Amino acid sequence: MAGHASIEYDGAVSQLEIAAVDDEAAAKAWHLVDDATRSGDVPADPLSEVLPRVVQPRQTGERNELWLGTVDDKPVAIAELVLPLLDNEANATGEIRVLEAHRRRGYGSQLLAHVTARAKAEGRRRLFGQVVEPLDGDEVPAGVAFAKAHGARPVLFEIRRVLELRSLDEHRLSELAARARERADGYSLVHWADRAPDDIVDDLAVLKGRMSVDAPHEDMEWEAEKYDAGRVRALEATVAAQRRRVVATAARHDATGQLVGYTDIGVNVDRPRVAYQWDTIVLAEHRGHRLGLLMKVANIELLRRTIQGVEIVNTWNAAINEHMIAVNEDMGFRPAERERQWELDV
Ligand SMILES: CC(C)(COP(=O)(O)OP(=O)(O)OC[C@H]1O[C@@H](n2cnc3c(N)ncnc32)[C@H](O)[C@@H]1OP(=O)(O)O)[C@@H](O)C(=O)NCCC(=O)NCCS
Repeated sequence: MAGHASIEYDGAVSQLEIAAVDDEAAAKAWHLVDDATRSGDVPADPLSEVLPRVVQPRQTGERNELWLGTVDDKPVAIAELVLPLLDNEANATGEIRVLEAHRRRGYGSQLLAHVTARAKAEGRRRLFGQVVEPLDGDEVPAGVAFAKAHGARPVLFEIRRVLELRSLDEHRLSELAARARERADGYSLVHWADRAPDDIVDDLAVLKGRMSVDAPHEDMEWEAEKYDAGRVRALEATVAAQRRRVVATAARHDATGQLVGYTDIGVNVDRPRVAYQWDTIVLAEHRGHRLGLLMKVANIELLRRTIQGVEIVNTWNAAINEHMIAVNEDMGFRPAERERQWELDV
């Protein structure tokens, strides 16, 4: 791939050596392969995000195992296995990437066999993996052919949408926010960057737990994630250690003081061009007040005021998540790519 020619080798086909990534040198090699197999609007995580996944213990409720596949000591393939520790103890998620010049030699399959065995050894019964597909056209992407060849089945269908900040229709956004405010009487917005205020962290933990079940999962068996204030703080610490910044906007119900919804966007300061919409949720009993739209418009404004250099915001929604998609389309998010979640029995 352009710009990464230094790690495209002409080598004879030989055995893939698979080793755990547990130091900085291996993390760098892992990152180079990740970077070379991605492009455009979903770039690889910068090294600053990869290193803390392997060299620092995380307290965020999951464990990451990174694996590096080498041929003649040269990195050609990578895998990541994520093991939830507090919930979803029968589940694991995985990702495999092989340098383009080294595909169709069985390396992807060897890494898949390896992470499947690791997941099984950890008592997991299901392995989930995401594969990107173009929005239209008949071409079958390598990842889809690979998933099918290994007997995986599609369980969740998502669409990535993109908001271009440079061509944002600010007039439209203010109009949308003004109309939304008329329906949101009795609620106020709360904003923060990086660390949630102490007085809302317990409510935020409840909302994070709800997020893992309220967003549609179609046929993907995913349990409610268990959050408490400690886990929220641990996550914030990890995000900060990864040189990522977060802007968040929440809605508070004035009569009770309860936080009833929130939305957050993450950005890595080493690669700020692309920001990521993380969660957006409004508790079921407080829906219908346009809080989703109100929070999201305010949070985009907060993002623009707080973090420089962001050009696009990516968001992923289940294709069946009509309400969230309607809000996103209203704001100017446009479809860019399809993505399927595949499940493999372990
Ligand atoms: C998907 C990917 C990991 C496959 O790696 P790989 O080393 O080429 O995979 P393998 O050589 O083990 O392929 C195993 C089988 O998958 C199928 N397959 C893989 N790529 C294919 C392609 N481009 N077209 C058709 N079938 C394909 C074939 O059945 C292949 O067996 P065969 O070569 O004997 O016909 C690699 O293409 C890649 O990195 N893609 C981008 C990232 C991605 O989509 N990852 C998967 C999701 S996590």
